[in-house]
Amino acid sequence: MTNILHSLNENPLILAPMAGITDSAFRSFMREMGAGILITELVSAMGTQYQSDRTLHLMNFTPDQHPVGIQLFGEDPQIMAHAARVAEDRGCDFVDLNFGCPVPKVVKKGAGSAILRDLKALEVMVRTVKTAIRIPLTIKIRTGWDQDSRNASEVTHIAHNEGVTWVAIHGRTRAQGYSGTADWKFIQDVKSQSPLPVIGNGDLNTPQTIVTRIEESQCDAVMIGRGCLKNPFIFQETLQRLQSQEKETTVNKSSTDAKDLWSAYNRLHFHLATQCDDTILMIQLKKFAAWYSTGYPGASQFRKSIFNTKEKNEILDLAEEFFKASKYQSPEDTTQEPFLMGGHG
Ligand SMILES: Cc1cc2nc3c(=O)[nH]c(=O)nc-3n(C[C@H](O)[C@H](O)[C@H](O)COP(=O)(O)O)c2cc1C
Repeated sequence: MTNILHSLNENPLILAPMAGITDSAFRSFMREMGAGILITELVSAMGTQYQSDRTLHLMNFTPDQHPVGIQLFGEDPQIMAHAARVAEDRGCDFVDLNFGCPVPKVVKKGAGSAILRDLKALEVMVRTVKTAIRIPLTIKIRTGWDQDSRNASEVTHIAHNEGVTWVAIHGRTRAQGYSGTADWKFIQDVKSQSPLPVIGNGDLNTPQTIVTRIEESQCDAVMIGRGCLKNPFIFQETLQRLQSQEKETTVNKSSTDAKDLWSAYNRLHFHLATQCDDTILMIQLKKFAAWYSTGYPGASQFRKSIFNTKEKNEILDLAEEFFKASKYQSPEDTTQEPFLMGGHG
């Protein structure tokens, strides 16, 4: 069994869970591209009661993905505990509870971030799940329900008392959704008082930003979500920066190296082809071709052409031409532009 805190020390860059994106194929690809610990997207605890195919499929992972956690959501502690046992039996390294999802359909039932309004219920939930499994339990929260009730710090103390291994914090309130910016000063304050490891999350879009946030917040690790969707090299580039800091040299590799997007895209294709059916394969190939082209000259025409294709080979031909041509060009900085302003955490 992998020691996940040891893994965190070795590589503090966790791939954030993203529903519909971080499926098993994408996780294998990101691991190859330098991501540390991996986590599935949120999985319905209720779905595990019915052994629903869709639910069990979401819990799948491949051996190369260890250390990997399965994230669960739900409102009933006993059903969550049952789901956690199912996850444990599938051989994952830890179970993560989603206490950050802001989506009304989820929150209305009392799941996701709704539990941040009732810390007694959170305590009971964590205790019930923790006692049901032997593997580590982690949680992912928001800073609080709204600006006036930011209680992440209290949550870390409850989590610590209940034997949780770490708390990941998306630096926005539930009320904010994805608007505004993640409040890293707040994360830093929570970390400074936290009795257990804190993982910072939110708006980590460039290697430079990630290194600065780790330094300033003193977080034990960070979770990277949308940042890896336009830049598949973000984990490698950040690790290089962190390692060069340890050696006290200054390298600025990411800005001088040519980014071989075509090779990266091919590796993504390999993992999708190995693990997905044709429909998902086509959707993901188109989506990632569009995201990876962001900021390069001719990107908007390229996207139009990609979304008009019907055959896989057409996509690959267009992508090869575009990405090979962009190899020695620097993309425009688009990190300030709105991008995927909605999700389950
Ligand atoms: C499309 C999408 C789907 C998401 N799905 C999940 C999820 O299943 N579970 C979860 O805890 N967070 C989910 N999130 C939230 C991310 O894990 C992360 O907390 C958030 O995007 C902020 O980090 P970022 O700025 O690095 O993307 C999702 C976010 C997006 C954009």
